[in-house]
Amino acid sequence: MTEKLIRGRLISFKRAPLSLTDTESYAYEHDGALLVTDGRIAAFGDYAAVRSSAPEGIEEIDHRPHLILPGFIDMHLHFPQMQVIASYAANLLEWLNSYTFPEECRFVETDHAARIATHFYDELIRHGTTTAVAYCSVHKTSADAFFAQALKRGMCMVGGKVMMDRNAPQGLLDTPEMSYDETRAVIADWHGKGRNHVAITPRFAITSTPAQMRAAQALAEEFPDLHIQTHLSENHDEIRYTLELYPQAKDYTDVYAHYGLLGSKTLLGHAIHLSEREADALSEAGAVAVHCPTSNLFLGSGLFPMKALMRREKPVRVAVATDIGGGSSYSMLRTMDEAYKIQQLLGERLNPLESFYLVTRGNAEALSMVGDIGTLEPGTAADLIVLDATATPAMKLRMETVKTLPEELFLLQTMGDDRAVVQTYVAGNAMKTAL
Ligand code: GUN
Ligand code: ZN
Repeated sequence: MTEKLIRGRLISFKRAPLSLTDTESYAYEHDGALLVTDGRIAAFGDYAAVRSSAPEGIEEIDHRPHLILPGFIDMHLHFPQMQVIASYAANLLEWLNSYTFPEECRFVETDHAARIATHFYDELIRHGTTTAVAYCSVHKTSADAFFAQALKRGMCMVGGKVMMDRNAPQGLLDTPEMSYDETRAVIADWHGKGRNHVAITPRFAITSTPAQMRAAQALAEEFPDLHIQTHLSENHDEIRYTLELYPQAKDYTDVYAHYGLLGSKTLLGHAIHLSEREADALSEAGAVAVHCPTSNLFLGSGLFPMKALMRREKPVRVAVATDIGGGSSYSMLRTMDEAYKIQQLLGERLNPLESFYLVTRGNAEALSMVGDIGTLEPGTAADLIVLDATATPAMKLRMETVKTLPEELFLLQTMGDDRAVVQTYVAGNAMKTAL
């Protein structure tokens, strides 16, 4: 049995904060400690109390005065797009065809997939992300590289081999049968191994024929516990083209609903331009709209009405994500800074408590995994980050005038990036030191 005590200022959300003064929504310990036993949190509380219940001579790691939070969760990104970030394109479809599809073709090579997977996890850890929900490429080799690296690092990851059988280069196409067989093989090889979770991953309606949608439906019926991830209503040209390809569909959402792909485990990237009917459909199904702020701004896709969707009479579940490589930063801090600005442009307020709730517990709830990740509650995995709001000279200067915890969080979100992440623990192991 390995045991350690990790000391610092602890913050963990109990539910979504209703306002900036909703102190009941989170637990905070100014001089707190976590007792970590075999990679899981055994106790959360005041340092003196946790210390007195811990064995004599236990290893103690003192992170004071820094904040300790659950590791960030990134709900949508593309592992084969690390070398696509910063590609100069006018819009989504041009970006996919000119840069992204050619780049993903390279993941047929085992060595390339393995090399990028190593960098991918290094970047996640550097930025304090301990769980991510990723698209691999169409090639099974990419999923193998993705999950092998997660297993090696003990990280809780969700990922899927992309299913795509049309409207892309030949090197990036499977067939309905291949996509079914290979997804089943990825499930057999990786699902439940270590902390790996396989997601059924039809890329989006444009790159899947109706026959492939039926293959995805068959997988969803056979493996009802698995997540399903795809893209929805990101860009107006994309929506138009989708409806040309699926003329029977009421709207874009109906394409997925028709094939039984809209449920409470469905994660829909972007979902920016939804009609009221589509938002109702998402709400009724319990499907999650995943907000990708840096990507939506970078590709000029649109302003996701996050707060409006959350407060509907039929609320839509939302989550937040980087969408690397349409997204431009691996940092969930940078992501929430852009999410805040998007709500500002829509005349809405996104307060920093809500932002930090979203990137931790909120995303865990959207994944239906809150019993394992997203909080500091005893029994959950010790996936933790240590944040320093004085990480740069400019942040340090600004911190001189900060008086409250929400102000400190807002500073971290507005000015912070990987430099503010002092340490990242995965299942109780410090991972950032070696990077
Ligand atoms: N829609 C289909 N594929 C993609 C992708 O790789 N990135 C983004 N942003 N949108 C997509
Ligand atoms: Zn995406």
